[in-house]
Amino acid sequence: MRKTATSEFPILDVLKERWSPRAYDSQPVEDEKIWSLLEAARWSPSGGNAQPWSFIVTRKGDATFDKLVDILSGNNKKWAGNAPLLILSVAKLTRADGSPNPYAYYDVGQAVAHMSIQAESAGLRVHQMAGFDSQQARTLFEIPTGYDPITVVAIGYFGGLDKLPEDLQQRETVDRSRKTWNEFAFEGKFGQPLTKPEAASSGS
Ligand SMILES: Cc1cc2nc3c(=O)[nH]c(=O)nc-3n(C[C@H](O)[C@H](O)[C@H](O)COP(=O)(O)O)c2cc1C
Repeated sequence: MRKTATSEFPILDVLKERWSPRAYDSQPVEDEKIWSLLEAARWSPSGGNAQPWSFIVTRKGDATFDKLVDILSGNNKKWAGNAPLLILSVAKLTRADGSPNPYAYYDVGQAVAHMSIQAESAGLRVHQMAGFDSQQARTLFEIPTGYDPITVVAIGYFGGLDKLPEDLQQRETVDRSRKTWNEFAFEGKFGQPLTKPEAASSGS
């Protein structure tokens, strides 16, 4: 299923086609693809090259997989267990010298973004989730103080719509929406819309 972005300006196909499904096929993600995802994250930029990310990889069938699904919240618990691969992203909150790293979350998000684009280009889909019990994740994976679990990232091949409850099946087909330009693209001062070209190029 495609939910192509209706882009007004040209963007890469991989960005246009990316979306966050809830329906996943049971086909496992190939090991080499998993390592490519981690490689993509590894080479993402970070403040001071601190690389504050870690990733805890769990595949369906692993001892930890079902336990991770159990600590997802609300609707996440209903669908994410169908994905063959769940990755918990974790941020290290301090720099090497022990001072706080204010960019830790930013950097982990960016590493996951790179991972997502790598995944999309390999034919995989990705759905990030903040809806989980981070305290329970800390206990489950023995995450030390000074590190925060940030997101659970579901990854796999699209499919298995029929395994979703009816309401979630319907949500799969809902159009993707975005803010308009003048809500986020500014010039001169915050809140002042950036002037947009009259005729947008053929991006869609
Ligand atoms: C940090 C973060 C947390 C998210 N948490 C959840 C979540 O707990 N459950 C969920 O269904 N989707 C979650 N999402 C997915 C977003 O809802 C989704 O990316 C957004 O609606 C845009 O849809 P799209 O990715 O298909 O373009 C999260 C995404 C991000 C980046």
